[in-house]
Amino acid sequence: MAKKQKKAAKPAKKAAKQVAKKAAAKSKKVVKLAPVKKPAAKKNGNGHPKPSSKPFGQVGKALDGVRILDFTHVQSGPTCTQLLAYMGADVIKVERPGVGDITRGQLRDVPNADSLYFTMLNGNKRSITIDSKHPKGREILDRLIKHCDVLVENFAPGALDRMGLTWEHIHKLNPRMIVASVKGFGPGPYEDCKVYENVAQCAGGSASTTGFREGPPLVTGAQIGDSGTGLHLALGIVSALYQRIRTGRGQKVLCAMQDGVLNLARVKLRDQQRLAHGPLKEYSQFGEGVPFGKAVPRAGNDSGGGQPGWILKCKGWEEDPDAYIYFITQAPVWGEICDLIGKPEWKTDPDYATPNARLPRLKAIFATIEQWTMTQTKFEVMEKCNAVDIPVGPILSMKEIAEEPSLRETGTVVEVDHPTRGKYLTVGNPIKLSDSPCEVQRSPLLGEHTDEILKVLGYSASDMAEIKGSGAITPAEKGARAEAA
Ligand code: COA
Repeated sequence: MAKKQKKAAKPAKKAAKQVAKKAAAKSKKVVKLAPVKKPAAKKNGNGHPKPSSKPFGQVGKALDGVRILDFTHVQSGPTCTQLLAYMGADVIKVERPGVGDITRGQLRDVPNADSLYFTMLNGNKRSITIDSKHPKGREILDRLIKHCDVLVENFAPGALDRMGLTWEHIHKLNPRMIVASVKGFGPGPYEDCKVYENVAQCAGGSASTTGFREGPPLVTGAQIGDSGTGLHLALGIVSALYQRIRTGRGQKVLCAMQDGVLNLARVKLRDQQRLAHGPLKEYSQFGEGVPFGKAVPRAGNDSGGGQPGWILKCKGWEEDPDAYIYFITQAPVWGEICDLIGKPEWKTDPDYATPNARLPRLKAIFATIEQWTMTQTKFEVMEKCNAVDIPVGPILSMKEIAEEPSLRETGTVVEVDHPTRGKYLTVGNPIKLSDSPCEVQRSPLLGEHTDEILKVLGYSASDMAEIKGSGAITPAEKGARAEAA
């Protein structure tokens, strides 16, 4: 409606300008333009529909109607598409016949059932098997390209092109399609390299800054290279979908794992630049009198921010490897810390009273606080500190997290049932939308939805029989590669 009015106003504006130009040329006088009729103000804010009057959570899902051609495998890509599926997108996972995503068979805990590696990264998706190198398989893929909004892939560099699915081919078939990729590196000397999680952690600057000064670089347990990059890619896709509303066309979205890790390690690049202006005083190395080198050092459990912190032993640490707490000596609650640990004199002692005075003494300060934390369980420390606003964090084991009732209540940890492996826990949507609730569903069996998707693509029963006979959706040597995995 608003568009129509805009269109109608254009010729009127042009005509008014021409009249004014002619008149100006004649009289060489300043001519006032005839007032142009402005299009009526849009009905609703920013051109969007009127706010729904339906209760929150009852107007579908955020990404309802978005169709994803999911060509991902292992972890980084599947993390992204699972999040999009949690948000309501229809995610169609394309897998190699008879084999599927390699993780179906990796780290298996239950014989002949899909592994937790696979099931926890592929919930809420549908699975179709297609041999992308088979001519008939390519034909099905072309239909899927026309049917979908986004193609997501994380193959090794060049693999998609080798399948014949170049950007040009895809864009010609469906100019609205967004093609989103995870690669190990962006353009440059390493662009052709295959990359896994820990390679990215090392190349993105995380490993060199993780661990203890005296020890080797360390990788972290959190999968910042894989899951972190998948998360970045999901934001790229949603942004490209939003831009497509204006432009009508798709675009390429690229997330390099090195870039994703660096983005998460940006405070260390901050420190690298600070190093040129003097020592990093919040690093315990400063207090210990150890000189800094040319690059940001490993900082053990030092806090990455301006408030010093360290991991301290709690009661039971001798037997329980997780009986520890992260303790932050936040400046505004220094007085409360002193009272709690039985050192009220530190509140006025010039060696301890100010953050700057404390910096060279952090090791000794934390050792004193630890004498107190070792007399309490980590949960008692948590309770007593939080009562007076001291920020602390118990070191929670994965067992404790799996059993934590509050995480079950929020849907962050969810139990789902699976036809071959039985019940398993997965991580639900960590992003909570008040108008787009997420129901976590189990991962699909290999090719579980092949028939129903082919039907949606317009294939008749006889077409489907022909496709099945062609070998495009069934394994050549059934199970051979699955066993190898
Ligand atoms: N039908 C037919 N062939 C298929 C297929 C299908 N449905 N799906 C995949 N293939 C083929 C690919 O075309 C490719 O063949 P080609 O090399 O002959 O062209 C082959 O399977 C293997 O793909 P590739 O991506 O090279 O897998 P890989 O197991 O050798 O490497 C990674 C795995 C993760 C190292 C690599 O994919 C990679 O570097 N990805 C980008 C970075 C990334 O996401 N890493 C993190 C993973 S968690």
